[in-house]
Amino acid sequence: MLRCNLPAKHPGNRETGDYFGVACPIDAYLGLPFVRRTISVFTLQSRPAAMPDQTFRPGGKSMSTSSQVRRIGVPDICARKGGEPIVSLTAYTAPIATVLDPLVDFLLVGDSLGMVLYGFESTLPVTLDMMISHGAAVVRGSERACIVVDMPFASYEAGPAAAFASAARMLTETGCAAVKLEGGVAMAETIAFLVARGIPVLAHIGLTPQSANVFGGFRVQGREDARAQQIRDDAQVVADAGAFGVVIEGVPETLGREITEAIDIPTIGIGASPACDGQILVTEDMVGLFGDFTPKFVKRYADLNADITAAAQQYADDVRARTFPGPEHCFGDAAPADY
Ligand code: KIV
Repeated sequence: MLRCNLPAKHPGNRETGDYFGVACPIDAYLGLPFVRRTISVFTLQSRPAAMPDQTFRPGGKSMSTSSQVRRIGVPDICARKGGEPIVSLTAYTAPIATVLDPLVDFLLVGDSLGMVLYGFESTLPVTLDMMISHGAAVVRGSERACIVVDMPFASYEAGPAAAFASAARMLTETGCAAVKLEGGVAMAETIAFLVARGIPVLAHIGLTPQSANVFGGFRVQGREDARAQQIRDDAQVVADAGAFGVVIEGVPETLGREITEAIDIPTIGIGASPACDGQILVTEDMVGLFGDFTPKFVKRYADLNADITAAAQQYADDVRARTFPGPEHCFGDAAPADY
């Protein structure tokens, strides 16, 4: 029976890991850029009262959000267990959220932003304030997708009360629908505490990047029987604790498949299994915005690195040749205020 639970990178360890299916230097992964109508009663997500009813749109325009688009809610995600695959990508900024919003079911404001946007070597330095700023931007830039924001390292592990304080700020200051936190059995009490107090939780198990120091790097988790059993237990326990879904990262395909069949909440795979109820990737990985290395679990659908390089090269050439700006980019003396 489907239960809907209502009221859910990377350390400086630079050892070699095999997360990508081949033994590869962890630097390669780290090197992403771096390194490496009416609102439904089901819709939990709302704009914080303090925020104006205006949404940022790329191009400097604001637009009213009193449109009739219904935002996908947590119960909609729950209802997809065993059904049409759930599509998810990360977003950290309003313009990217606006582009992705019509195409995905949920957007994750992942703490991977610490590495992808800020150039940290791990997700550990990411703060609650950073996540709130980016979470609010993604909510403002979207109108349809369900928005989930990551709880950063040290904002929830101390205990349920500390986690509630952090997660409550996340929901009230961003307008997101849910939070994601890493951990299985160890986080069960916290997940139950949050869910009982109205905070939907997406759990994250398997390779949990905030614990990569414990794992000794970014390694596929669950190849050994004992670790595989821990991950099975993690999945069952977070489901029992009330998580509405669970991200499974960096595990053997058979384990991802087995867990998806065993638990009654949606599984979202990243480096897991096509059998998962949904998939997620870091958008910058998916569009090739960073270095040449592509981790095994990533499929590149674009090469934005090359596109941006070509555009910037053309711009530089034009500026140096004084062919930009052209007359069409210049203001006349008598023109109206048409900036
Ligand atoms: O931080 C993140 O972006 C994530 C996803 C990749 C699952 O946790």
